Amino acid sequence: MQVSWSAPSNIAFIKYWGKKGHQLPANASLSMTLNRARTEMSVSVEKKENNKSELDLTFSFEGKAEPQFEKKIRDFLLTLSDFAWAKDYALKFSSKNTFPHSTGIASSASSMSALALCLLELEEKMVGKKHPHFLQEASRLARLASGSACRSLYGGHVFWGEHPDFSAGNDEWATPMPSVHENFQEMGDAILVVSSAAKKVSSREGHNRMAEHPFKAARVTQAQQHTALLLQALAQGDWQSFQQIVQSEAMTLHALMMSAPRPAILMASGTLKILELIESFAQDSGLPLAYTLDAGPNVHLLYHKKERTRVVSFIQTELLPFCEERMWIDDEIGDGPKKL
Ligand code: PMV
Repeated sequence: MQVSWSAPSNIAFIKYWGKKGHQLPANASLSMTLNRARTEMSVSVEKKENNKSELDLTFSFEGKAEPQFEKKIRDFLLTLSDFAWAKDYALKFSSKNTFPHSTGIASSASSMSALALCLLELEEKMVGKKHPHFLQEASRLARLASGSACRSLYGGHVFWGEHPDFSAGNDEWATPMPSVHENFQEMGDAILVVSSAAKKVSSREGHNRMAEHPFKAARVTQAQQHTALLLQALAQGDWQSFQQIVQSEAMTLHALMMSAPRPAILMASGTLKILELIESFAQDSGLPLAYTLDAGPNVHLLYHKKERTRVVSFIQTELLPFCEERMWIDDEIGDGPKKL
């Protein structure tokens, strides 16, 4: 028996940075699901030959054994009491990314959402458990493995967390947003790869640093205010406000790391150069675009696809010299996971 899913990555406009309780977000976050940056995962299950009670699990990434990730999945499965049945079987996980894995693009959102989908489908097939709200349950499960992964279960724009202006929001799982203004329905995301090296500070460590951060309370207030403003901008089609809020969110994430009791610089010199170039291009051209960053040096340039030709030419002539081996991922808004 085998199940296979393809799940996308997502890019946050409002950042989840800091937790409360058991893997719950300190503030609401809002993201756009990507189309091309995806993980494809398969899990095959066979009855075990021995009757040992430990979990029999292997994991390979792009055909090669990955002991570190294997341990991550094993530890995760052992925390899930609903998956006790898995001890009677041999489970083989294999996965691959549809984008070059050497680009340093965080793949935990795509891999953990693909994992959650595979596990839930297996649970339905192996023990007959029905999940009437399959995607919602997969989002909850993905959240337990990696917070931002819970937003990859749906296409378009996705909301996670509680907020007075979005009544469907929930801390336990993400919710797809009802359709936003047409100005934001056709978005491109050019991911400019400044460095493909592994992240200097893991997101687990980043969230930990927020726990003792002197600006922790102010950050939660700011994020909730940004969320209210972004919901308005998305409803009204207001690119100018969108740009201001999304860029401020990216800068805040990095400023919080720089001002943490144990400070960390997550940008590289090429990051700053690219941000300056985008700022002057945006000002001179007046085009609908904005930059954002994850917890690393690579830059996401968000733009309206009707301006694609001008944006791609700007990327090629001005930005690629600051990218590692002129690398970028030409992504866009996507429809969410697919069963393979
Ligand atoms: O899902 P985690 O625990 O890896 O956290 C990632 C958080 C950011 O990617 C930095 C921001 C976000 O909301 O996606």
